[in-house]
Parts: sequence; C-alpha cells; structure tokens
Amino acid sequence: NKPQPLRGKRLLITAGPTRESLDPVRFLSNHSSGKMGFAIAEQARSLGAEVTLIAGPVALPTPAGVTRINVESAGQMLETVMAKVNSQDIFIATAAVADYRAENVADNKIKKNADELTLTFVKNPDILKTVAGLPKPPFCVGFAAESQDVEAYAKRKLADKKLDMIAANDITVAGLGFNSDANALQVFWPEGHCDLPAQPKTELALALLNVVIERYQEKNDT
Ligand code: C5P
Repeated sequence: NKPQPLRGKRLLITAGPTRESLDPVRFLSNHSSGKMGFAIAEQARSLGAEVTLIAGPVALPTPAGVTRINVESAGQMLETVMAKVNSQDIFIATAAVADYRAENVADNKIKKNADELTLTFVKNPDILKTVAGLPKPPFCVGFAAESQDVEAYAKRKLADKKLDMIAANDITVAGLGFNSDANALQVFWPEGHCDLPAQPKTELALALLNVVIERYQEKNDT
C-alpha cells in the first residue's frame, strides 16, 4: 500500500494547447502534447488526491479516477478554471495557453483572394495569474518553457504572477520538453530551488509532486 500524502486534497490541473478560432474552419494553436499535465494528474491521483484535469484538444486517454473537462479556447479554459477553483487546494498550470486570439472571428470561411492577409490578434487572459491573484488562492504552480536565461525568466514569472512555485525547462535541449516523452526541470519557489534531472515525464511528474507536497505543507504549517 502506497502512502497517500495527497489524500483529502483537491488538485486542479490545466494541460495541453488551446485553440483559437480564426473562422469556422481554421484556428491558431501550438504543438503542446499535454503529456506533462496528464502525467501529473495521474500521479496526483495515485498519491490520493481528488483531481480535476482541464484539457485543451489533445490525443491522450483520461487517467483512471481523474475528472476531465475538455475545452478549446483560452477563454473557455479560464471560465472552466474559475468555475472549479474555489474548492481547490493546489492549482498546477501546465497548459500552453495561446498568448493571443483573433480580434474578430470571421463568420464565414476566409477566402484566398488577396496575395496578403493581415489578421489582428489581441492578448488572451493569463489564467494562472488570474488564479494566483484571487483573495484566497490555492497553492499555485506554474511552468515556464524558456530558450535562454532560464533561471532569470523563471524567477521573474514566479514574482510577477505571485506563484508559490515555478517549474522551468530549457526548450533548446534536444529530446526534452515540448511534445517529447522526457523532460528536466529547474524548480524555484520564493525561498529556494531544486533541479529535477532528465527523466520520463511520468517519473518527473512524481518527483515534482513530491516537491510541491513539501512546499505546500511548509506553507500551510506556518
Ligand atoms: O508567461 P508564460 O506564458 O511563460 O507563463 C507560463 C505559465 O503560465 C504556465 O504555467 C501556463 O500554463 C500559464 N499561463 C496561463 N494562461 C496564459 C498564459 C500562461 O495559465 N494565458
């Protein structure tokens, strides 16, 4: 019988990309596979947590015992997160939310008449920052995919978004991170940091949750 350190705890996780419509047949999105978020959901459940997984469009099966809600756009993801977040103990944002959406979604299919096409995009809401800014936020964990100055950018996001923890990875390392099965993470919290070496995302998810549990207990005991 495995220890259940997350028994009685509720975890909310976002995962995968979002899809921002341009017209009835086209969208803007990214290559996020959702693997990291789904691995965290599965491991959190195995540690006893009650897990709600809010997923963008990904081709992954729902981990056993996890409640999954499918969404498409950043707007829908925000709305769904806000509807669920009040009763949560821990929020882990792994989703690769599209930073921008089309200012106007065309009612009809955009025609290829002109040689150039200009679309205007507007910024999407920051879901994680919105949650971390609530009067009584859950323990908030963010992810940061960086291509340079990993530590500096991660620490800036930790402070800017008022997070409890951020897990950063260097996307320039071949075979790790975005859309692959393995990753390595540098984890930062306001008073410290640790490195989780390259390993399959399923194992990395468990290693990360162990750090989350330690910091969560520390924060809630003091
Ligand atoms: O600022 P950046 O996009 O690098 O921050 C990444 C972190 O913020 C991730 O945890 C991601 O899930 C979250 N995020 C979000 N909503 C956005 C953009 C990012 O929740 N619109």
